[in-house]
Amino acid sequence: MCGIVGIVSKTPYPSRVLLDRLKRLEYRGYDSYGLYDGRTLLRRIGGIRVEGGGRTTAGIAHTRWATHGGVSERNAHPHLSCDGRVAVVHNGIIENYEELRRGLLRKGHRFTSETDSEVIAHHLEDGLRRRPVEAALPRLFRELKGTFAVLAMVRGRDEIFALKRDSPLVLGAAEGRTILASDIYAFSDWTDRAVFFENDEMAAVGPSGARFFDATGRPIRKPARTFRWEQDRGPRRTAGHYMLKEILEEPAAVGRLLFSLGGDQKPAFDRLVRLIRRTRKVIFASCGTSYHATLLGAYYLHRTGREVQTLIASEFRHFAKVDAETLVVAVSQSGETMDVIDALKYARANGGRIAAIVNVPHSTIQRMSELSLNILAGPEVCVASTKAFVNQAVLLLALARAFGFPVRLETIPDRLRALFRQRARLRAMAVRIARSRDVYIIGRGLTYPVARETALKIKETSYIHAEGMMGGELKHGTIALIEKGTPVLSLINAGDPDIISNTKEVEARGAEIFVLTNHPTLGGDRNAVHLKTANDGKFGILAAAAGQLIAYYAAAALGRPIDKPRNLAKSVTVK
Ligand code: F6R
Repeated sequence: MCGIVGIVSKTPYPSRVLLDRLKRLEYRGYDSYGLYDGRTLLRRIGGIRVEGGGRTTAGIAHTRWATHGGVSERNAHPHLSCDGRVAVVHNGIIENYEELRRGLLRKGHRFTSETDSEVIAHHLEDGLRRRPVEAALPRLFRELKGTFAVLAMVRGRDEIFALKRDSPLVLGAAEGRTILASDIYAFSDWTDRAVFFENDEMAAVGPSGARFFDATGRPIRKPARTFRWEQDRGPRRTAGHYMLKEILEEPAAVGRLLFSLGGDQKPAFDRLVRLIRRTRKVIFASCGTSYHATLLGAYYLHRTGREVQTLIASEFRHFAKVDAETLVVAVSQSGETMDVIDALKYARANGGRIAAIVNVPHSTIQRMSELSLNILAGPEVCVASTKAFVNQAVLLLALARAFGFPVRLETIPDRLRALFRQRARLRAMAVRIARSRDVYIIGRGLTYPVARETALKIKETSYIHAEGMMGGELKHGTIALIEKGTPVLSLINAGDPDIISNTKEVEARGAEIFVLTNHPTLGGDRNAVHLKTANDGKFGILAAAAGQLIAYYAAAALGRPIDKPRNLAKSVTVK
């Protein structure tokens, strides 16, 4: 949440380059944005416009997802200290900002925003009154409580100072330029060389390169690593929306993942299989869409006789008992979700082992884990996760196959392509669903996680109230909400007669029924889409992709800002 960027160059560059790079991080938050280039302070509300005429050799920029203080220009970053000597951008939450603020007010500092972040600029200015920046930064490190990735500029110095604790921060080493950013997507088209900050580390980045220090100011060595970040050569932003583009990239992304699971990722994959086999207890930890992928994964593994548990990461410590015989598998697209990181810290503190399944390479969660696999979905720009979900589910299905789940994974890309040829039917369904304020999506067994995921996609992109639930649970309460014409989307796996009964129960009460099925006869109906696969493992994945398209078309019918839904951010780096 919140994206930060800082660029230091040997030769002057147009300041708007900062905004151009920031735009690539806009999915981290889009309430307001701003930049400081040593001369100009620009702060604006809303989506980033790449504009401005100045030039600089060093500048910082920020795109905000509001936590402390409403969405306004004065709460937008960068924040300047009273005398303008210090400018900062910050991602994270300063937990003791009120206490620090009170102390600084007593010393005569005047605050202009309601944010927790502004305190950093004043604290640094206060430190600089008595000491050089090299000593003021360790003091800042000592006194700040909470989570932060901070970039600071100090008047008279041609450097950017970077500090990190718990919020993501990475440095990209490009030709003639160094870029500091919240994630590699800010510069992955400039360079594949990066230095990943660990907690309580800082850097001074100048025109001739970067120097790294620990939190006390002692120099440390941090070598650059090469990263691989898959780019799809698929259709460009389809109909102006990344969401559709990314859904349509799924066949290519699945193909790439399967190839790598049999190639360069095979040793890590085999190690994970061995680890799961040897470990008494396996728990997945994840949030949101990734959690739904793990529910599907848990189902697949249960079918092979291997019992695993899955927990939403924010509740992990309240429901998980972790010991030395527990393996916690974190599943996360961004690899930066704070609740997942917190669950892993808890697991580690209790002696558990940690593995990870992530999309963003070298992300914090990957670096915290003793073993990790990459889903290779490539950059996902739309805030709502689509192709990452599919690749997470495919990887978990591959894992289940290693334990005996019968499935031919190789045909998934073609099955997805066949599904995409039915887009017109899915769109027609979506347009009808979009007329309602509520929709219920029901599933059973492997389609239950898909029902939850489809509901989440519909909610976040179209703002229609959607509930994804177990078909069997309907009659224990929710059926009271079914009226004449209430849309119910039923996910019918051919082998499951019970979900057909649940569908009949709501139909009898006037619901308008929509169906996604691989049932040989049910799929012929006007309100049904037939998904061609006899394998229920694959059916789960295809039904999820169909649900993504329904959500997309419903949001499009309602004219929603599909790629950047209100109030959301892609990388959730606060608790
Ligand atoms: C919904 C969505 C979110 C994320 C969740 C976890 O479309 O994208 O629910 O799945 O915030 O994020 P990661 O997977 O990055 O840990």
